[in-house]
Amino acid sequence: MPDKRPRRTFAVISHPDAGKSTLTEALALHARVITEAGAVHGKGDRRATVSDWMAMEKARGISITSAALQFVYRDHVVNLVDTPGHSDFSEDTYRVLSAVDSAVMLVDAGKGLEPQTLKLFKVCALRGIPVITVINKWDRPGLSPLALMDEIERQIKLRPTPLTWPVGEAGDFRGVLDRRTGEFVKYTRTAGGATRAPERRMSADEVEDVDAEAWAAAMDEHELLGLDDADHDQKRFLAGETTPVMFASALQNFGVAQLLDLLLDLAPAPSATAGVDGSVREVEDDFSAFVFKVQSGMNSSHRDRMAYARVVSGTFERGMIVTHASTGRPFATKYAQSLFGRETSAVEEASPGDIIGFVNAQALRVGDTVHLGDKIEYPPVPSFAPEHFMTATARDIGRYKQFRRGIEQLDQEGVVQVLRSDLRGDQSPVLAAVGPLQFEVVEERMTHEFNSPIRLTRLDYQVARRTDADGAQELRGARGCEVLQRTDGTYLALFIDKWRANNAAREHPDVLLEELPAGGA
Ligand code: G4P
Repeated sequence: MPDKRPRRTFAVISHPDAGKSTLTEALALHARVITEAGAVHGKGDRRATVSDWMAMEKARGISITSAALQFVYRDHVVNLVDTPGHSDFSEDTYRVLSAVDSAVMLVDAGKGLEPQTLKLFKVCALRGIPVITVINKWDRPGLSPLALMDEIERQIKLRPTPLTWPVGEAGDFRGVLDRRTGEFVKYTRTAGGATRAPERRMSADEVEDVDAEAWAAAMDEHELLGLDDADHDQKRFLAGETTPVMFASALQNFGVAQLLDLLLDLAPAPSATAGVDGSVREVEDDFSAFVFKVQSGMNSSHRDRMAYARVVSGTFERGMIVTHASTGRPFATKYAQSLFGRETSAVEEASPGDIIGFVNAQALRVGDTVHLGDKIEYPPVPSFAPEHFMTATARDIGRYKQFRRGIEQLDQEGVVQVLRSDLRGDQSPVLAAVGPLQFEVVEERMTHEFNSPIRLTRLDYQVARRTDADGAQELRGARGCEVLQRTDGTYLALFIDKWRANNAAREHPDVLLEELPAGGA
């Protein structure tokens, strides 16, 4: 029997250190996946366990993988999809965002909007993903809540519509005013935030003397917000015009239950999705899924390669023979893995919104669609403009085969973009990255996973523009410019700086030189 419980599939995104790992664990705790967060190891270890979901799974016997955490809350199935923490991996984040229906953006109350926060908001806007904003770390001194609302409005151009409002200023977090019901939700600390924080709901007349002043201040601000058109409007939220805001302390587990409630009440459920040709799959139509992440080397004892896919429509049943849209070939799903259920690694079935992993699916690449029934192909995830370029050569020529295999694999996973040209030949392809940390991953994995240490040599280019075969011809020999071809066939013209790129555009007005979306923070 297919599991018909409603789904919510979302990602938590933030500038590093805003508390993403802490919140993830707190969410799981509230959903009663974990019984006592951090209590076994104490606070010091809590960070280590949460930053690594696999370790967390081992330590607590809960159901997580490196790609998604699934739990049940109020009879809904919640899929929390993991995103990388560092801005150098923003392409990965972008891909993950193609697999979710909404995002929770964490903002550090003390720091306000940070570079990565701003960029991620933009990415969500680009992909049309509704965002719930959580102001975290309210247990610590920070900015005033109205100042934070102002920042969101001015810098992100989204109207903040707070659903809760803090009672007590940052650093003196007593609870929140639930702006929808007018109640005071009073929080009580537990030792180290190790267990679910008890909360008491009370009406305005029940607020005790100790909290009276803070409550009055919160009420004042709440009324101001009401006058300023800052009340939640579901349509505007889904249209990406507003962002509901809440206040929390992930570390103390304050506000976490409200966040889960909001996700269930407001965040969109999986819905109909359009393919590249404009045809639409409703969630109840034939099965289809979209590959958003390919990863290997997770288990050092054997070669493994997982392709993670989000179910878009229909019910997935293990063993189904589906069609790989880009090649038209059949694809067997015997080795599909569920991302939950620690002992049983096989997924028997999955519904729209769920994440499944295909083991050793060599044929699947990021952006691919698999389906039953009529052909459907979902739009590929656009790639960012690379800003860092290196040539890669095998340190040991005798290991060229391993070198080629490794580069091909990392290319398919999207760890870096791989560019080639006849001039350069296949021995030393150009690796292109949005952030320099991507190269470190390549070096590390080439050495340890593919047994082919590489030498990376920096190239002077900083700007890439998309061109075509004619452009490649015409720009041949132009100074400060080189045209290479990416594995997906796209021609990229590389320039040492943007002035040269602009100059080339002026000198060759007929040549296509299109800017790509900027990925760097
Ligand atoms: P990230 O995944 O977004 O990078 O952030 P992470 O959860 O690792 O949190 C970064 C730091 O912020 C950690 O402190 C964490 O304890 C702290 N933190 C997270 N949420 C809250 C909160 O609500 N209130 C307060 N006061 N702190 C919070 P750390 O010093 O790096 O580690 P630890 O020694 O405290 O574990």
